[in-house]
Amino acid sequence: MLRIGVLVSGRGSNLQAIINGIEEGKINAKIELVVSDNPQAYALERSKKHGIPFQVVERKSFASKRDFEERMAELLKERSVQLVVLAGFMRILSKNFLKHFPNSVINIHPSLIPAFQGLHAQKQAVEFGAKFSGCTVHLVDESVDGGPVIVQAVVPVLPQDTEDTLSERILKFEHRILPQTVQWFAEGRVEVDGRKVIVRDARYGTLPVNPELEKF
Ligand code: GAR
Repeated sequence: MLRIGVLVSGRGSNLQAIINGIEEGKINAKIELVVSDNPQAYALERSKKHGIPFQVVERKSFASKRDFEERMAELLKERSVQLVVLAGFMRILSKNFLKHFPNSVINIHPSLIPAFQGLHAQKQAVEFGAKFSGCTVHLVDESVDGGPVIVQAVVPVLPQDTEDTLSERILKFEHRILPQTVQWFAEGRVEVDGRKVIVRDARYGTLPVNPELEKF
């Protein structure tokens, strides 16, 4: 049973997807702790409802980013967390935090990175006029949404899309690829070789085109 910690800042729908996957027996993991940097996060209500231990760790309670991160690492290590999942956690973690969990911090981002990194990724995609966007689960390094990619789901952008409609379409796939990635870790199938991450025995190779090709 993989021991995971989930870091959140807000709504927590990705946290909920992991909780559901565990409760449905699809993920062989236990959420040892939810940590929120935001005391108002709805994700905390979800933790309460499902009897999952949670802690609020606010940046403003610490003199430095280093102390803030050390506290989070300490709480996670006290519970022997093996995989840290950033599920809508809106802060950049430094190497001081990451060194505690080598190759064991993952993040969900609502674009096909390296496109549209940072905030408001879905709005960026709509405004850019991209024909595809999607979501990515990646290992976290010190870059902003730039670490080695584990899995990406491609989602079409439609001509009438707004930030909200695209976000909703992408979110459905976030709720699939994040729980699936946790299960891949639980199965010990994630192999990291520098920037290349391979999921052992996974199928690779589907090809999407948008708009559809007609004659070629
Ligand atoms: C999700 O769309 C997630 O991909 C995004 O925040 C949202 C959190 O929703 N994360 C980022 O943009 C990270 N750079 P949730 O709280 O309902 O899971």
